[in-house]
Amino acid sequence: MATETYTARRDALETYFDRTAVEAWAKLTSDAEVSGIRATVRAGRDSIRETILSWLPSDLTGERLLDAGCGAGQLAFAAAERGARVEAVDLSPTLVELAAERAPTGLAGEIHFRAGDMLDASEGPVNRVVSMDSVIHYQPADMVQMIADLASRAEDQVIFTFAPRTPMLTVMHAVGQLFPKSDRSPAIVPVSEGHLRKRIAAHPELQGWKVGRTQRIDSFFYISQAMELIRA
Ligand SMILES: C[S@@+](CC[C@H](N)C(=O)[O-])C[C@H]1O[C@@H](n2cnc3c(N)ncnc32)[C@H](O)[C@@H]1O
Repeated sequence: MATETYTARRDALETYFDRTAVEAWAKLTSDAEVSGIRATVRAGRDSIRETILSWLPSDLTGERLLDAGCGAGQLAFAAAERGARVEAVDLSPTLVELAAERAPTGLAGEIHFRAGDMLDASEGPVNRVVSMDSVIHYQPADMVQMIADLASRAEDQVIFTFAPRTPMLTVMHAVGQLFPKSDRSPAIVPVSEGHLRKRIAAHPELQGWKVGRTQRIDSFFYISQAMELIRA
């Protein structure tokens, strides 16, 4: 996939997650104490990760799983603990290195870390794809195409999160625009669940799939919604 909006956003995200935000991200994903807004974000992220994990089989032995946009590796570790062979991919080489360092002893051999684009399909088919808070930065058309590309590699299940368009999120988004540009993360692009479902239903490459479970997590400053695609 190579739309101009996709590559421009991907490049901005690489700079952001590999340089601007890498220390903050390393801290948020560790046990280090964080306060205020960050603590609510961490709690919300823990809860959506648990939701995603609860939708995966408890035994993944013999399966291949792609963690698309793995960040510091938290989901990848949990999937490998269940027996999956995990392909953990992220644009940020620094985060991939951190994830590899943090991989629990004994699991490192089960996880293949790769710095690069999650849409690079060169490693072939997988059973399942998870993508937590990684496609939320792309325009809805690009986001759904990314999901379609990821689904084309998956045999059984694709789980991703999106930023649901809610009145609260719209206000927070507007407030965020008031901060100086240099402090801002590449914007999250909220999308309503209805709009997303329509796009998924209409996408020619997603005809073999249907929406399964979906669950919204609302932890004050963190709002995200997990959605599952299963075989139709
Ligand atoms: C908000 S972080 C989430 C990381 C991780 N999934 C988690 O929840 O801890 C989003 C991550 O997606 C990665 N990302 C965004 N677009 C990507 C792409 N096209 N290919 C690979 N990684 C991507 C970013 O580099 C970043 O590490």
